Amino acid sequence: MQTTPLTTVRSATPADVHALARLLTDSFQPSDAWWQWTQGWVRSGLAQDLESRLTRPPASYRCLVATMSGFLAGTVEVAHRPLPHEWWWLPQVASPQDPLYISNLAVTPAWRRQGVASSLLQEVEAIARSLCHPRLYLHVMADNIAAVQLYQRSGYRLERVEKNWPLFNPRPSSKLLMVKVIM
Ligand SMILES: CC(C)(COP(=O)(O)OP(=O)(O)OC[C@H]1O[C@@H](n2cnc3c(N)ncnc32)[C@H](O)[C@@H]1OP(=O)(O)O)[C@@H](O)C(=O)NCCC(=O)NCCS
Repeated sequence: MQTTPLTTVRSATPADVHALARLLTDSFQPSDAWWQWTQGWVRSGLAQDLESRLTRPPASYRCLVATMSGFLAGTVEVAHRPLPHEWWWLPQVASPQDPLYISNLAVTPAWRRQGVASSLLQEVEAIARSLCHPRLYLHVMADNIAAVQLYQRSGYRLERVEKNWPLFNPRPSSKLLMVKVIM
């Protein structure tokens, strides 16, 4: 695992799930009143999902945690995932032949702009190299300027712009599929 003077990156354990669920809901849920009302419910569902992924991990699944001075500073997950296709609504089962896909990258607000996300992405690249996977994929909303800048600066390039189905996601922005070729 990688250590810099400030950031330590390690694998998540089941003891982390509640803190991680809080970080993810705080980072990804809108802050309006309706979402605030559902937050406890969403958080406990997320904690259960995380616990099940950590205790019965799918092939090549990793969840990383970054700490700064001992405090939870950020997280990211990586796993095999089929890329979305025209028949997106059909159930898709991930297999080790699928590309490696990054999700749930989030940094605690107090620790942002201090290289935490960049350290997590570097560690994910090391994992992909160790698995001999030449590419890493991720999705980002086009209006998430901080994340788009982070990924561009980290060497990710636009693969394609995807439809954002308004029925399931009221956010008007489009969704970008980005890729980094690492070997
Ligand atoms: C996006 C996010 C993960 C960035 O984490 P971070 O630890 O602050 O990122 P880093 O410090 O490693 O930033 C590296 C580079 O990314 C870019 N960047 C990061 N945050 C930025 C911002 N708010 N505005 C513009 N550029 C930004 C900069 O180029 C930055 O380098 P610099 O600080 O030297 O200018 C963080 O803002 C976050 O958790 N956001 C909410 C969750 C989210 O949107 N996750 C991504 C889902 S796709």
